[in-house]
Amino acid sequence: MKIIRTPRSMTVWSEGLRREGVTIGFVPTMGALHDGHRSLIRAARLQCDALVVSIFVNPTQFAPTEDLTKYPRPIAKDHALCREEGVDVCFEPTAQAMYPEGFQTTVTVPALARRWEGAARPHHFAGVATVVTKLFSMVQPQLALFGQKDYQQAALVRQLVNDLNLGGAILVRPTVRERDGLALSSRNVYLSPDERRIAPLLFQSLQAGRQTIEGGKSDVAAIERIMRQTIEQEPTIHVEYLAVCDPDSLEPLPVVAARAVLLGAIRLGPVRLIDNLVVKMPGGKSGLRVDREVKVLTD
Ligand code: PAF
Repeated sequence: MKIIRTPRSMTVWSEGLRREGVTIGFVPTMGALHDGHRSLIRAARLQCDALVVSIFVNPTQFAPTEDLTKYPRPIAKDHALCREEGVDVCFEPTAQAMYPEGFQTTVTVPALARRWEGAARPHHFAGVATVVTKLFSMVQPQLALFGQKDYQQAALVRQLVNDLNLGGAILVRPTVRERDGLALSSRNVYLSPDERRIAPLLFQSLQAGRQTIEGGKSDVAAIERIMRQTIEQEPTIHVEYLAVCDPDSLEPLPVVAARAVLLGAIRLGPVRLIDNLVVKMPGGKSGLRVDREVKVLTD
C-alpha cells in the first residue's frame, strides 16, 4: 500500500491511472476507521480497479469549540485496516498542504445545509463541501462511497458533485450498527460506560417512528411525539432534534405521503450522536437512495 502525502503527487498518480483506463474508487475519511468505513472500502474494492482512502481530519469542518485537537488519530490501526482490505493508496495530506497561506475559496450548498446538522454546526457543511471538492479534484474518482449514517452529508455531497460536474458516481451504503443498534461512529469512543448503555435509545426512537409510519400513521406531530416519548425514558439524554423529513430536500414534512427520512441528534454529556432511518408508507414507492438499489450516477 502506498501512502501519498501531497495533493500534487495524488493528482499525478490519479491522472496516470486514468490515462491507462483504470477505474478509481474513493472513500474519503477522517481516519479512526471502524467497520462502517470497512464496509465502504469493501464495496469500493469490489467495483473499482484501484482504491484510494483519504485520511484527513479536516479542520474547516470543526467549530473552534469542537473536538478537532482531540479527534482520535490511530494511524497505525487505520493503515492496518486499509492493508487488510486491499487499499492501494492512503492519501494523507497535511492541513498546511490543503489550506496553504492565502487560501480563500469556500463551497456551500445552502438549502441542504440549512437545517439539522447545518443549524447545530453552522460552518460544518461549508467545510465538508470545500474539502470534498478539493479531494475529488485530486483523486478524480469514478466512484466515491459515503455512509448513510451521515445522511445530510451524503445528500449534500450528491448535490455538490452534480452541481459542479465533478464526475464519478456517489454510492451511499447503509449504516453499520453495533448489536444493540448504536450506529458506528468514530466518536463512540468518547462515551462513558453509562452513556454507552443508553446511547442505543436514539436508534430505538427512530425505530419507533418507523414502526408508527409502517403501521399506517402519517401525521408527523404524532410520529414525532412517539419518537420523543421513547427517548425521554432517559432524562440524561438531551434531544437536539427528532424530525420527519423529505428524504431528498430534508425539509420537514407535515404528513408522510410516500416516503420520509427520520433524522435524530442527541447529546449525552459532552458527546453528540446522530442517526437516521429511511421509511416508506405501506404501498409507497421505495425512497431508499442507498446501497445497490440506487447508484446515483452524476455524469
Ligand atoms: O464523513 C467524514 O468523515 C468527513 O466529513 C469527510 C466526508 C471525510 C470530509 O472531511
